[in-house]
Amino acid sequence: MFLRRETTADAPAIHAVHSAAFDGTVEPNLVDELRADGDLLNALSLVAVLDGEIVGHVAGSTATLNGDKEIAVGLGPLGVLPSAQHAGVGSALMHAFDAAADALGYGAVVLLGDPKYYSRFGYVLAAEHGIVPPQAEWAPHFQVRTLAGYKSDMRGNFRYAPAFERL
Ligand SMILES: CC(C)(COP(=O)(O)OP(=O)(O)OC[C@H]1O[C@@H](n2cnc3c(N)ncnc32)[C@H](O)[C@@H]1OP(=O)(O)O)[C@@H](O)C(=O)NCCC(=O)NCCS
Repeated sequence: MFLRRETTADAPAIHAVHSAAFDGTVEPNLVDELRADGDLLNALSLVAVLDGEIVGHVAGSTATLNGDKEIAVGLGPLGVLPSAQHAGVGSALMHAFDAAADALGYGAVVLLGDPKYYSRFGYVLAAEHGIVPPQAEWAPHFQVRTLAGYKSDMRGNFRYAPAFERL
């Protein structure tokens, strides 16, 4: 398996990965809309390739913390083809994403997901760092991983790119 950034030709395969992983249309359409809006960050849209096939994808998109686009990045969706799950693909994508976001200089990665999965990658509830989701009911699933560029004043209201708000 190897990981790399997505290319234009990968879009249909990425759509198919999320359709199968989530058994629905919400997540695949979200990735397509983020890309169409120009909010999908190419350096943080990573695919996992196994035997020539794209088996996993993680999307990184623009986000704001107190209106500032340079501080935090949104992670998600993360999906792995059911046939390729439980083999470390999701973990590899997470580690690669966080390392790339760190190298790009972001202070934090923010996501919505199951803390039982993401805590192993160093994610904690965003409330611990004073990072506030747009909807209060997200709080139990709203998590952050701080990176080398993090500073304690990086707190306040977080907003995903508009495609998330159209969900
Ligand atoms: C979550 C997902 C990305 C993990 O991918 P993966 O390649 O199977 O992950 P890894 O092989 O690195 O890790 C697998 C481990 O993650 C854990 N895990 C997976 N999903 C989990 C969840 N929802 N809650 C807690 N732990 C979970 C299990 O401990 C699993 O261990 P096992 O293989 O011994 O059963 C994949 O299962 C998936 O695409 N699921 C459907 C989409 C989804 O829920 N995405 C995440 C939310 S955005």
